[in-house]
Amino acid sequence: MTVTRRSFLMQLAASGGYAAARAAMTTLGLGAIDVASAGTNAPLNLAPGSGNGRSVLVLGAGIAGLVAAHELRKAGYTVRVIEARDRVGGRNWTIRNGTRIEFTDGTVQVADFAAGHYFNAGPARLPSHHRTILGYCREFGVELEAEVNSSRSAYFLPDAAKGGQPIQLRRAVNDARGRVAELLARAADRGALDRELGTDDRARLVEFLKVYGDLDGQLAFKGTERSGYTVYPGADGQVGERPEPLSLEALLDPDLWGALVFDELLIFQPTMLQPVGGMDRIPAAFQARLADVITLNTEVTSIRNTGDGAAGGVSVAVRDRSGGNARTLDADFAIVTFPLPVLAKVQTNFSAEVKEAIASVAYDAASKIAWQSERFWESGSNIYGGISVVKHPTALIWYPSGGFHRSTGVLVGCYNIGQAARDFTSLPLQAQFDASRAVIDRVHPGSAALLKNPVSVAWHKVPYSLGPWVHWATPHERQYVRLNRPEGRVHFAGEYLSQIGAWQEGAALSAHHAVAAIAAEVAGRAGKTASTSTSTSDFTTESAIIPTTERA
Ligand code: ALA
Repeated sequence: MTVTRRSFLMQLAASGGYAAARAAMTTLGLGAIDVASAGTNAPLNLAPGSGNGRSVLVLGAGIAGLVAAHELRKAGYTVRVIEARDRVGGRNWTIRNGTRIEFTDGTVQVADFAAGHYFNAGPARLPSHHRTILGYCREFGVELEAEVNSSRSAYFLPDAAKGGQPIQLRRAVNDARGRVAELLARAADRGALDRELGTDDRARLVEFLKVYGDLDGQLAFKGTERSGYTVYPGADGQVGERPEPLSLEALLDPDLWGALVFDELLIFQPTMLQPVGGMDRIPAAFQARLADVITLNTEVTSIRNTGDGAAGGVSVAVRDRSGGNARTLDADFAIVTFPLPVLAKVQTNFSAEVKEAIASVAYDAASKIAWQSERFWESGSNIYGGISVVKHPTALIWYPSGGFHRSTGVLVGCYNIGQAARDFTSLPLQAQFDASRAVIDRVHPGSAALLKNPVSVAWHKVPYSLGPWVHWATPHERQYVRLNRPEGRVHFAGEYLSQIGAWQEGAALSAHHAVAAIAAEVAGRAGKTASTSTSTSDFTTESAIIPTTERA
């Protein structure tokens, strides 16, 4: 059986989400580089007052929009944020008791969770090297806690056709190491690697493999305490009993391999973080600082560049979602943060090239299901956070990272992406819930009856999102390159325009990029003004951001 790199990536995507596949693409030399490692992204430090007298309309109050508005305001720009939803955050959406979930197909769900429970339907984890978004958490005092993304007590559930018995990850990970170490150590020991290794290195490699794989003195792997016990050691004569090591055949199931390396991917390495109380504590912190400039429940119907050069500006038509009060807002610049399927529905006077770029990018699909349940994964399986990977359309079971030993918690019983998500979410909701419940019961027998009050969020069906992220084939696709440049006075921002797509870090850095571009243009014009003595009065000023109708 051959496993192509592509099929490996698809399998990894199913267990780790798009981001896992993307990181693996990097590892395999196929794709983008995660540039967010320490030191590569300098903070945006615009000079206070450098934006005085300039106005910017920020369209969309997701992470990119909120970051842009916050930074622009700090520099003195007059800012107004327009948001169609009745909340800020965009895909950063935390569902609690009473949250209404509406899909474009008319499906409506209302979450029925106990007080204090929440479900991060969008972003649910923060890598520790995503310094920009973590920097805002620090700046705003958003309290963080560990997000337990991986637990060796969780399981891999093979395909039903391959036996379908859950395998604990500590067994899979450590038996795989042991088996591979044994083969390599024996090959080295009998001289099969002598073309690659000198005598000293051969001896050192064998010693290393004994430690790495827990081999015995004869270089045999006979199982390891690292893989856990079937009977745990206890008092007096109660010695531990170990399971038989997994066979090489079981370990050579390609469906397993993603789970073996999942938490070695840079974006999933511990320690991962989450805000205490829900991911939406981040947008809430921005909102607290921007409340006077954010307008909710307001749709954008058209975006137009007006004038040329120094006389340029933007004119944005909006209307209340309640069905009225159409008006026009004018400003010197706009930053558009809408996902492209949403932007494609807005009338613009953009060039044919930009319109084509917007219309031609395909968004992915993704869905999650959350259950309220008694915490059987703790009481029955000693699982405290982490993810079980299931070879099933629901892809995973994600255990809560906090609230340990409380009576109930919120369990994520599905996180699928791509065609699997499209196919799965084309089933009736009840069928999706039944499938999720059944596969959780295969990993945790007897749990089905404990799973209550499910909700599904299918991002490709969520109004004003219409998808979770973009799969760029390369980071140099023409639409990516074009939309990272402004169109007249209109700039674009969002995670999809960063090398860290599908992460809040990417949204924040893309916002910095757009803000820096506006600041550079403003500074350039100010410089030109000084040298040519041309008045800047042709720029719209603070009052310009007041709706045209209100100005009239
Ligand atoms: N950032 C997204 C995740 O963590 C893709 O799954």
